[in-house]
Amino acid sequence: MGSNAGLNRLFALEQLAFLRRPRKHWNTHLNLAREFIATALKTADPSRPILILGAGWGLEIPWRLAPKSTVGWDADPWSRLGTFFRHFRWAPWVFKDITGTFQELARVSRRVQTIEGRLVRRPVPVAAKRLAGLLPSVIPSPMALETWIQNKQPSTIICANILGQIKPMASKIIEVAFKPNSPWVIDPELPDSLNDALDVWVARVLKCILGIFQKSGSNLYLLHDRGVIHQDADLALGEWEDSWIEQIKSIEKHLEASDPLSGVDMLVELNKFTCHSKKRWIWPLGSKQIHIVEALVLRP
Ligand SMILES: C[S@@+](CC[C@H](N)C(=O)[O-])C[C@H]1O[C@@H](n2cnc3c(N)ncnc32)[C@H](O)[C@@H]1O
Repeated sequence: MGSNAGLNRLFALEQLAFLRRPRKHWNTHLNLAREFIATALKTADPSRPILILGAGWGLEIPWRLAPKSTVGWDADPWSRLGTFFRHFRWAPWVFKDITGTFQELARVSRRVQTIEGRLVRRPVPVAAKRLAGLLPSVIPSPMALETWIQNKQPSTIICANILGQIKPMASKIIEVAFKPNSPWVIDPELPDSLNDALDVWVARVLKCILGIFQKSGSNLYLLHDRGVIHQDADLALGEWEDSWIEQIKSIEKHLEASDPLSGVDMLVELNKFTCHSKKRWIWPLGSKQIHIVEALVLRP
């Protein structure tokens, strides 16, 4: 998957997999997400562009409320057409990867499989360790996003469930490069240097993107997965806690949890903004996959 075509295909396949999932238990999430994005669209200043990052096929986006100046941004090559079929709206669109780095990540993930200059394949665990060592040199370059925001000065930026997708997409890119093998250490009790290095890398990418938002002067509506529980547990959320895991109420003593934001706290990173509203809810996405969704409204 060295080419842009390979990456586009991966984005399209991931989107199809997302849209094909059974949505029996998604109603509460979809209503809350649509309501959140509806408020963003209704209150945004329409005289300047309104940017929706991760616009996808518009499952969560009430496009009928979007002013004419609203622009969709999604790397899935079918997202604009999917939005048209769902909402009869042919919006201006940007199809670029917001990280600006996934193609390089794919290239490096393939390159580590063979010893440089020779056609000898490295054993998979050695290649995975090599990739862990090289990840710090894969420099995040969200230039396209930065330039777009600088030039267009959007009044509002809506992140429609995209920021929690950087780690899953990066993991997928690495997995595709290692096919038919798995780059990960199977035993969860054992350390996995690649997974640890990926967390550090994802945090770096996210901080770079949030740094661009910090300079934007735009209102921010951020909707993202704040945490994932990998078991079918009975969960509820208590009062807001800065640490999402502490907000969870459950009789389970040990929750199998992961952090899609690799330890990045939006409110800490975006400290030039005033937080106008913050809430979280539970999204039972599928079997053994309960997402804790976070919705933040920040103003400069
Ligand atoms: C969970 S889906 C969000 C669904 C979407 N908000 C909707 O209403 O259908 C995440 C979206 O982010 C897009 N995406 C993920 N990573 C991206 C990236 N690095 N650059 C651009 N788009 C990305 C995916 O293609 C996908 O459409």
